[in-house]
Amino acid sequence: MQTSKIIALVTGAVAIVVAAGALQARPMAYKLPEETVQFPPGPNLEVVQANCTACHSADYIKTQPQGPKFKQDFWTAEVNKMIKVYGAPIDQSDVGKIVEYLVAVH
Ligand code: HEC
Repeated sequence: MQTSKIIALVTGAVAIVVAAGALQARPMAYKLPEETVQFPPGPNLEVVQANCTACHSADYIKTQPQGPKFKQDFWTAEVNKMIKVYGAPIDQSDVGKIVEYLVAVH
């Protein structure tokens, strides 16, 4: 291959990289997808919305298994896990209210 061709190739490659870099450098505007799952109405809904939406969407809660085995104990453990394992800043006095809601709607 001739030197001039190599230079042309390298220049072309550099131009592409620079162009790609310029594209990426533009400011990005993100539009978050619409929430697909909403918390259904129930007791203490506002407490749940205030405490359970900071880290993940309502899907996480909606898609949990349902049935007689997944009531008070299950949800109490779940809310405590959010606090102890994931560090959710939930007031102890709200835990009972949140569990009441989760049991009621599931
Ligand atoms: C401090 C952040 C934080 C808050 C606040 C929070 N969660 Fe979570 N939650 C997490 C993380 C992290 C996961 C695990 C995500 C993963 O595994 O991908 C999770 C997962 C879950 C899951 C899926 C099952 C599981 O155990 O992993 C459920 C159900 C859930 N959260 C319910 C709740 C409820 C109910 C509340 C309100 C009381 C809440 N979360 C508040 C961080 C939080």
